[in-house]
Amino acid sequence: MAEIKLNSTSITLEEITGTEGEKAFDIGSLRNETGYVTLDYGLKNTAVTKSEITFLDGEEGVLRYRGYPIEQLAERASFLEVAYLLIYGELPTSNQYEDFDHAVTNHTLIHEDMKKFFEGYPQRAHPMGVLGSMIGALSSFYPDVLNPDQNQNDIDRTIHRLLAKSATIAAWSYKNSIGHPVMYPQNRLNYSANLLYMMFGMPTEEYDLNDKTVSALNKLLILHADHEQNCSTSTVRVVGSSQANLYAAASAGVMALWGPLHGGANQAVIEMLQEIYDDGGASKQNVDKWLDRFKDKESGQRLMGFGHRVYKNFDPRATIIKKAADDVFEDLKVNDPLLDIAKQLEEFALNDDYFIEKKLYPNVDYYSGLLYRAMGIPTEMFTVMFALGRMPGWIANWKEMTEEKQPITRPRQIYTGKNKREFIDMDQRS
Ligand code: CMC
Repeated sequence: MAEIKLNSTSITLEEITGTEGEKAFDIGSLRNETGYVTLDYGLKNTAVTKSEITFLDGEEGVLRYRGYPIEQLAERASFLEVAYLLIYGELPTSNQYEDFDHAVTNHTLIHEDMKKFFEGYPQRAHPMGVLGSMIGALSSFYPDVLNPDQNQNDIDRTIHRLLAKSATIAAWSYKNSIGHPVMYPQNRLNYSANLLYMMFGMPTEEYDLNDKTVSALNKLLILHADHEQNCSTSTVRVVGSSQANLYAAASAGVMALWGPLHGGANQAVIEMLQEIYDDGGASKQNVDKWLDRFKDKESGQRLMGFGHRVYKNFDPRATIIKKAADDVFEDLKVNDPLLDIAKQLEEFALNDDYFIEKKLYPNVDYYSGLLYRAMGIPTEMFTVMFALGRMPGWIANWKEMTEEKQPITRPRQIYTGKNKREFIDMDQRS
């Protein structure tokens, strides 16, 4: 219990404790009882919901989906298995997995009319814009989703469609951007292999899938699959709270993820490394110069791929990705000058007082971009890969929120504008 005393009023706030011991006070009655609200820019100190999906301990570098450590899931599970776990709460039995895999795979095709949409986008359209708008457009092909009285089967079908079709849309947006014919999905392949096939296969020849690349992509997707109340997931919940359909909410999630402070950071990391390389290569002198720039607020530049709102010791996803990246770099005999710069920057930053004091460590995006690059995935597609990975997390959060019938999200504000004043006719205005 906590007691707040405000002038002559005193109220008691109920204490909430999570299953891993995090503590909160429920301030839901504060305004009614005292006339006050709380102000918390960036919601740095506000829990917006209770959730059973993902646990994250930023101080200890812990990430678990439904209780299972991310390290075990990344090593031993498939992406669709993890999607099932996040969305339905338990790891699937082999029968459940077979049904789920079949249901998702069955929906990999998109409506032929949607193929024409791609012709309408400029070739240089950013694939995140294409993905977000086309996921929103899926709702127009399945108008049943607009019916608020859907049963569980209808909802499951939407979930299967969204998971399957977003991968096809993503791959086709890439094909469109390079003027290549789109590749229809191959349902004999698993999710990750199919995605690579649709992106890199050609109708003119056989496409040889590299097992290590498929496995690395599977890992990357799992590592991105959920991250509790991050910016895009919160967006999905905010949009979903108005009872907008799942496609609308997921489309909003894609758009929120796009920004460079969130999922767009993986693209920004590569662009930053390229800029450093173009400026003077991987020499110590050049890397040092850039590190100084990142520490100087006046420069307006940050070391992209470093720092996190929640992780203050290390990002467990970054540790796994770095290992997966090293395996792929070795297997594919990658010789990438940007990798040398990334390694140097990391080493210098981890030993630099500025980064140590502010607890800034490499996050998931620092090495994921280099790994995508080694796989041949173009820079503008990096955030799209993140979006595909995050899809199960968005769906799980949307489902949890709608099942709990949470109220519409409608925050308050503290108005700091002009007080009431009289309208002035235009010819009287100075
Ligand atoms: N380089 C240099 N300085 C930094 C960086 C950085 N990457 N990140 C934070 N700082 C400084 C910042 O200037 C501030 O300094 P001061 O206290 O003197 O004002 C301090 O560290 C705290 O930063 P903040 O912006 O208040 O922290 P935040 O929790 O609001 O932001 C962040 C977290 C991830 C947006 C930020 O660290 C950042 O901009 N990092 C670079 C972008 C990036 O890599 N984003 C991907 C995040 S992980 C993927 C995902 O989940 O979306």
